[in-house]
Amino acid sequence: MFSLKNKVALITGARRGIGRGIALKMAEAGAKVVVTDINEKECQQVVDEIKKLGSEGLAIKLDVTKEEEVENAVREAVKKFGKLDILVNNAGICWPIKPLAELTEEEWDKILDINLKGYFLCTQAVVKEMAKQKWGRIINIASIASGGQGIGFPNLSHYVATKGGIIGLTESWAEEFAPMGINVNAICPGVIKTPMVDPFLVNPKAEEGFLARIPKKRLGKPEDIGAAAVFLASEEADYITGAALVVDGGWLAS
Ligand code: NAI
Repeated sequence: MFSLKNKVALITGARRGIGRGIALKMAEAGAKVVVTDINEKECQQVVDEIKKLGSEGLAIKLDVTKEEEVENAVREAVKKFGKLDILVNNAGICWPIKPLAELTEEEWDKILDINLKGYFLCTQAVVKEMAKQKWGRIINIASIASGGQGIGFPNLSHYVATKGGIIGLTESWAEEFAPMGINVNAICPGVIKTPMVDPFLVNPKAEEGFLARIPKKRLGKPEDIGAAAVFLASEEADYITGAALVVDGGWLAS
């Protein structure tokens, strides 16, 4: 229903999971997609899938914590497709899951580096391109675990801190970039079945526990987030900026 024809999207962490789901949904909607992640070969596999959907793609190795790789990815994307319209900041980690008392400074720094500094570096680089054309869409993948929702996530406070930070970035960037024609929104996924979540599901009781909290009685799929991202990137979402769209099968409402 929502077309992304003639749009160019760059997605981080897109070799698998939610990022791949967004890449395929955006390609289905007509976008050309720059698939980036730490493993270029697996990005290329997603590009091959994009081609089968009748669109174009480009695989680029991009570690979001490295400024020179971010700059290179933006340069290569613009060289290939002439512009950048959409950025999806998706690359993220949640590990290790452990009590605060046992978390090392190195572990704390690593999660902040990927989940927050990565969003900063990619946004800063892409905004320069979007500002030239006075049109852009930035979609930040946050989480229902972002604080302020009345639910805590024990042993994951470091992760929740980064996701809360992403909501703050989204609201601030929405205001800062509106004069440049750039909309900035967040998506807050619930439990989506991806390689990040699979280790939790090894224990069958864990899935039961999740389902008991989800009115829709199923785990989310990467394409559920992909569909929300296509909508937020579309022309029809022109008046939506600074918002956080919850896609969680009803968990937060229950
Ligand atoms: P995933 O682990 O399947 O995918 C994450 C991707 O990020 C991987 O492909 C990984 O290689 C990439 N990545 C990690 N470090 C990177 C770096 N330094 N530079 C570039 N790429 C890097 O996880 P999933 O579930 O697809 O998560 C995607 C996003 O969705 C994350 O931001 C996560 O926090 C968020 N999220 C996921 C939920 C879920 O239930 N799966 C729930 C809420 C939010």
